[in-house]
Amino acid sequence: MINRRHFLSKSSLVLGGAMIAPRVFSNSYSVQNESFPIVISTWEHGIPANEAAWKVLAGGGHSLDAVEAGVRVPEGDPNVITVGKGGIPDASGKVTLDACIMDEKGRAGSVTYLQHIVHPVSVARLVMEKTPHVMLSGKGALKFALENGFKKEKLLTSERKKHWKEWKKENAKFSNKINIENINEDNHDTIGMLAIDKDGRLSGACTTSGMGYKLPGRVGDSPIIGAGLFVDGEVGGAVATGTGELVMKTLGTFLVVELMRNGMSPQQACEEAVRRIVQKIPDYGKHQIGYLALNTKGENGSFCIRPGFNYALKTADQTELIEAEAWLKKL
Ligand code: GLY
Repeated sequence: MINRRHFLSKSSLVLGGAMIAPRVFSNSYSVQNESFPIVISTWEHGIPANEAAWKVLAGGGHSLDAVEAGVRVPEGDPNVITVGKGGIPDASGKVTLDACIMDEKGRAGSVTYLQHIVHPVSVARLVMEKTPHVMLSGKGALKFALENGFKKEKLLTSERKKHWKEWKKENAKFSNKINIENINEDNHDTIGMLAIDKDGRLSGACTTSGMGYKLPGRVGDSPIIGAGLFVDGEVGGAVATGTGELVMKTLGTFLVVELMRNGMSPQQACEEAVRRIVQKIPDYGKHQIGYLALNTKGENGSFCIRPGFNYALKTADQTELIEAEAWLKKL
């Protein structure tokens, strides 16, 4: 048992010659619950991603290792055309990747506009663990990755190059309609994953190649802590998918977590965050946004603007693809 005087002397700081002691907050991000472990992730490509995460969780591993292992699956799969290798390029034909990762202690790492590296989530984790920074971007992020043993690879597949050339010939203008979710319900967007391990530690990861044929230099919500992903180990976590600009303008996942902190269930919080977009952004109906949230009790919720968003859930006795409810109803 640590007594208060001992604690204060251990945690006090000398600043400008004066002794100061921080106020003590509780840090209870390790709560046992019989429904743990649990992992959830966006879209159908979340099913194989959850399987990879589950191997870590079932072995008693940390949720941070689980979410990294999980989202590496679509990152490495050239058939998933909105994440990692095989992702749709920008308007100039370059595949540029955004990703971030966050753990139960609030540690976070992120990379934006990263080229030539198949697993941006693992680079984001190294930014978190090896640097004093949260985010590295573009050439700096690539240099950091190469210095840390990542190999340069070709991310643009011949299939994606062919489609890009056709797009250039026909149109070559950026349009929000190019957002994959608005043109083809079978091909999906960002993977965001949240997991709680058997010891109650919650982590999240988010990774994407971003909006198809985006303007060169564009970065979306996925690598932005509080937009594409936010985790508070004492409250819960949230991930976002869809048109990143709308999520960034409303700091969506931070909002979802704050709403849960103030008493909302994950479901209520996702609904309220979508309602915020509907209230603030006049052309919201042209876009898709899906939120997915998990609180530290293991309760989850989701909500989206348009019908069609689904998410994968895995626990010891459940493997499911769940259809999220939407603001706009199918006619
Ligand atoms: N949500 C992915 C993006 O907008 O880049």
